[in-house]
Parts: sequence; structure tokens; C-alpha cells
Amino acid sequence: MENNENNFDVSKIFHAELNQKDFNKLSQFIMSEYGIKMPPEKRIMLQSRLQKRLRVLGMSDFKEYMDYLFSPHGMSEEVIHMMDVVSTNKTDFFRESVHFDFLLNNALPDITESLNIKNIKIWSAGCSSGEEPYTLAITLYEYKETHPGIDFNIFASDISTKMLSQGANAIYNEDKISEIPITLKKKYFLRSKNHEDKKVRVNSTLRNKVEFARINLLELSPSRNPQYQIIFCRNVLIYFDRPTQFKILNALCSNIIEGGYLFLGHSESITGLELPVKSIIPTVFTKI
Ligand SMILES: C[S@@+](CC[C@H](N)C(=O)[O-])C[C@H]1O[C@@H](n2cnc3c(N)ncnc32)[C@H](O)[C@@H]1O
Repeated sequence: MENNENNFDVSKIFHAELNQKDFNKLSQFIMSEYGIKMPPEKRIMLQSRLQKRLRVLGMSDFKEYMDYLFSPHGMSEEVIHMMDVVSTNKTDFFRESVHFDFLLNNALPDITESLNIKNIKIWSAGCSSGEEPYTLAITLYEYKETHPGIDFNIFASDISTKMLSQGANAIYNEDKISEIPITLKKKYFLRSKNHEDKKVRVNSTLRNKVEFARINLLELSPSRNPQYQIIFCRNVLIYFDRPTQFKILNALCSNIIEGGYLFLGHSESITGLELPVKSIIPTVFTKI
């Protein structure tokens, strides 16, 4: 089904319009399957993102695309690609740096000393292209330097296969790490041998600590066997309505051990949701 870009007429695709009826059908599907809100004002955004898929598939209008997407073959093959273009993946190394300071100075000492846990398990849920789990790995290595008895593993999940493969490749534009202190850059990043390339790669020490996997947070169910001391789920919940946020948070909390930590994004709150956590500082919670 995938077509070479030269085999079709780009001008037609450029004008392909996602009409209101098809938009409604798609937005209902995206909401019910993935919990992502797609209000009417997002129609043009969705249209322009999906035009990329029409181009790859060599289709000239949305009717053809909709027929394919909602066919049994489309449901198994295309839905993943559609979600890759639909989800918003903005992220950065050390995004919301206060979280990593808190982790280093408060959460890690608490976990390793008060809870006496030496093998720390962390989950970055909604990890995008990997900057968040690699920042976690840097922070853990920095902590490990003064606490050699500890070890850690990071599980990084996202719905987007494209983001996951970028994360696993761990290659970034050099300007992505411009704000990172030089000592950390030297320790944890490799420069491209071709300097014109302006790319860096996370070194294998960090890469080996992060495992990537595709998980749709909407499909999570509560766990009876909590595994994680720390879960980061930042800037993901904003896409969901309140009941969906509750369902996801409830499942995530059930995966955190008592005394473990949950980190949310700067604009996310749990106000009004009955969850087994208490607030420590804004957007950081501990499991009770
Ligand atoms: C804005 S990024 C946040 C990345 C990172 N956590 C941060 O704060 O920098 C949101 C990520 O959530 C992912 N996402 C959206 N809906 C999801 C779902 N239903 N299940 C899992 N991941 C999802 C997107 O693919 C995207 O990579």
C-alpha cells in the first residue's frame, strides 16, 4: 500500500479537504479509542497532518483515506500511523528542570535511604522522542556517583511508534542539548564524527538503561502488583477529558509502591480526583 512519493499528483493532495462529516467520525474515533480531545477548531490541523498520510499512501482524497482507515486492513495497519501524526510530541531534555532537582535532592534520597530501595524502577509514560527518560537516566547516574550501591532501570512508553523509534535511536540535533551543562554533555553525549552534521547521540551507558515500548495509556488497567518507585506522566493528560484522566491516573498510581512518587506536567492537576496520593510540591505527589 505504501507508495513512492513520485507516483502521484501532489497538487491534488494539497487541496484534499477533510469535510465536517469525516472530521466528526475521526474525532469520535480518536476520542473513544485514544481519549484524545479533538474539538471542531482542530479540523484544519488534523487535515494538514493527515495530508502527510494521504501522500505516503498515494491517495488523492479523504474519502479514499476514510474508507481505508475504517476497513479491517486499515484498522490493523493504518491506525498506528494515523496516531503518529495526530499526537503532539513536544518535549525537551531537562524540561521542567525543577522536577529533576527535586528528584536528585529529595525523592532519590528518600527512596534509597528511608525506603531502603537499591534497585530503582522508573516509568516515563508518554515519553515522546526520549528526552525525558534520558534526562531521568542522567539524573540517576549523577545520583549513583555519590551512592554507588544503587542501580536503576527506566521503562519508557508512548503511543507513537515514530517517537519510540526516535527515542531508541537516541540521535538528536545538537541544539537540543545546548542548555545542558558542558560537564553532563561530555559525560553522556557523543558528537557525530561528521561535525557538519550537527547531531549528537546519547551514549550507550544511558541507552542501555532505557527500554522503550508502545503502550496506549487508555488501555492500562489497575495493577495489583506495584513495581515502580517513580512514574513521570507529564504533559500527556492535558489531551484527555477528566474521566479519562482519572482512569489513567488511577492505573498509574496502582503501579507505584507506597512512598513512591508521581510527577505530572506543569499545567496538570488532580484536584477533585480521588487518588491515593498526597501533594508534596506542585505537580509532585507521593503514594499513600
Ligand atoms: C507533549 S508529549 C510529552 C512528552 C514528555 N512527557 C514531556 O513532558 O516532555 C505527549 C506524548 O504523549 C503521547 N500520548 C498521547 N496520547 C497517548 C496515549 N493514549 N497513550 C500513550 N501515549 C500517548 C504522545 O504521543 C506524545 O509523545
